[in-house]
Amino acid sequence: MTLPTFGVGILGCGPVTQAIHLPTLARFAETFHVARVMDVDADVAQAVASRADSAWTTSADEVIADEDVQVVLVCSPNQFHAEQVIAACRAGKKAVLCEKPLAVSHEEAREIAAMSAETGVPIVVGAMHTFDPAWIAATLNWGDLVEKVHTIRYSIVLTPNTRSEDFATEIHSRPERSWPELTPAERAAGMMFGSIMGLAIHDLPLVRQLCPDFRDVELLSARTLEPGGYLLNLRIGERHVQVHGLNNESWRPEWRVEAIADDVSLVVDFPPPYVHAGSGWATFRSANETRTYGPYRANGYEEEWRYLAALVKGEAEPLDTQVLVDDLEFALGIAETATATVREAAEQAEVHA
Ligand SMILES: NC(=O)c1ccc[n+]([C@@H]2O[C@H](COP(=O)([O-])OP(=O)(O)OC[C@H]3O[C@@H](n4cnc5c(N)ncnc54)[C@H](O)[C@@H]3O)[C@@H](O)[C@H]2O)c1
Repeated sequence: MTLPTFGVGILGCGPVTQAIHLPTLARFAETFHVARVMDVDADVAQAVASRADSAWTTSADEVIADEDVQVVLVCSPNQFHAEQVIAACRAGKKAVLCEKPLAVSHEEAREIAAMSAETGVPIVVGAMHTFDPAWIAATLNWGDLVEKVHTIRYSIVLTPNTRSEDFATEIHSRPERSWPELTPAERAAGMMFGSIMGLAIHDLPLVRQLCPDFRDVELLSARTLEPGGYLLNLRIGERHVQVHGLNNESWRPEWRVEAIADDVSLVVDFPPPYVHAGSGWATFRSANETRTYGPYRANGYEEEWRYLAALVKGEAEPLDTQVLVDDLEFALGIAETATATVREAAEQAEVHA
């Protein structure tokens, strides 16, 4: 006898749904089926539905009201995440997986925390490296590293997302982007906030785990990088933290989190996003020893869905939503301070030009 599977409803059918979640969900066919997909673009919704063999709609409410939808996957643009997560919680779904960021303001973060506490619906955030087996292995084997770390470096160098998406699947179509006329200050502010909340946010939860004093954050310097990126120097408690990201045409993507103490260092390398190429790998080095964990077969995307499968079957405990909200508030605080800094610098440069 085959047991019925849990229905997934998808809000937003862009590249992340097509290149990341559908291929990953295909590996969990014994637990999940795609019940209904939604996109404001009917053509995209229909094309993705035919790939997933599901119903489709242009209405998020219809997905959330569908009784065959037990898990809601939020893959819409960031500004819609909070309202869609809250609606799915209110509908009493079994679980919600929201792509990062969970929300884009402190107010939304508080609303999500309140709704999750009220309804008890478990929320998972698609910060895939928090599920990556190499990161998990690092946390299980780092002993007293966190107490001793003095320097953290977190750096991402990636080619534009479209290149990685095309490595992973055939994208049906991409939304047209149009860029408004911006002053240099508006452009710098938009680039900083957008790239911290869009890119750096991936591993800021890892940085937070390495910083017990995560509420004591001082921004020492911040600048945007051309053609698109950021470079921040922070003091977090006693630690010096460098956060760097750059989108350019590099031949080789790099995604690395490093934690350095006097007598030991940890380096975690992750594979590029979208590409389903296994996990990252974590290396501890001290004077006499080098220990490496990974790479493992499953990547963070697969582990996200493995955890969700266990969750809906009652075999795993829900994550503490407050931890996810604290991760979000940590990222928002850094993004807002860095944005104000680069906006002010660009405004002053305009005045003196
Ligand atoms: N985990 C990862 O590796 C990763 C990588 C890139 C992006 N992301 C996140 O995934 C999400 C989706 O990214 P993407 O690149 O597919 O985005 P996108 O903006 O290119 O596409 C999103 C899709 O949502 C649709 N849409 C627009 N308004 C909508 C609404 N109100 N409700 C539902 N759908 C709507 C658009 O038509 C489009 O098809 C973003 O939140 C992004 O931050 C995650």
